[in-house]
Amino acid sequence: MNLAPNVTKLLLVLTFCTAWSLVTTWSLDPDWEIGINQFTVHIINVFTGTNETLEAHCKSKDDDLGVRHVAVHNEFNWSFHISPIFAKTKFYCHMWWSGGEKYLDVFWIDDDFIKNCREGQCRWMSRNDGIYFFNLHGGYLLAHKWEPWHGKHIEKKMS
Ligand SMILES: *[C@@H]1O[C@H](CO)[C@@H](O)[C@H](O)[C@H]1NC(C)=O
Ligand SMILES: *[C@@H]1O[C@H](CO)[C@@H](O)[C@H](O)[C@H]1NC(C)=O
Repeated sequence: MNLAPNVTKLLLVLTFCTAWSLVTTWSLDPDWEIGINQFTVHIINVFTGTNETLEAHCKSKDDDLGVRHVAVHNEFNWSFHISPIFAKTKFYCHMWWSGGEKYLDVFWIDDDFIKNCREGQCRWMSRNDGIYFFNLHGGYLLAHKWEPWHGKHIEKKMS
């Protein structure tokens, strides 16, 4: 009797089980809310004393969400899925108004960032002094001050 095929099968099963246990171990990161793999990023305009729109141009490596004009007390949001395994999702934005501009990351895979996205909702808010991020402990906290305009962007804004 030739045992080789059975040994091969056994080895395959063992390899599969080992790989599977690695995968499930990685995906059970205790800092992530169990079961959440869909996220929504919110960009909210709460400028005061003005009716100016917030302009936001957000992108990932694969998606360009285009330039959005967010009216005061309105928001722009988008949702996406991530896989906890091999996740590399990252979104970044260029935001601007008459008070300045800023390039910033708005979503990235990092426990310290993601734990602030309660129920998968990551919230950014524009105020007159800068851009705020909703923090699990402190509420909305100033994350970035507006940077002064550079000439080429003013032209872009006016056009
Ligand atoms: C904003 O728009 C509203 C409605 O058009 C108007 O009543 C208000 O005066 C405006 N506020 C400013 C600061 O321009
Ligand atoms: C997303 O933004 C739209 C307005 O553009 C708003 O009507 C909707 O309620 C927002 N979605 C969430 C989940 O807040």
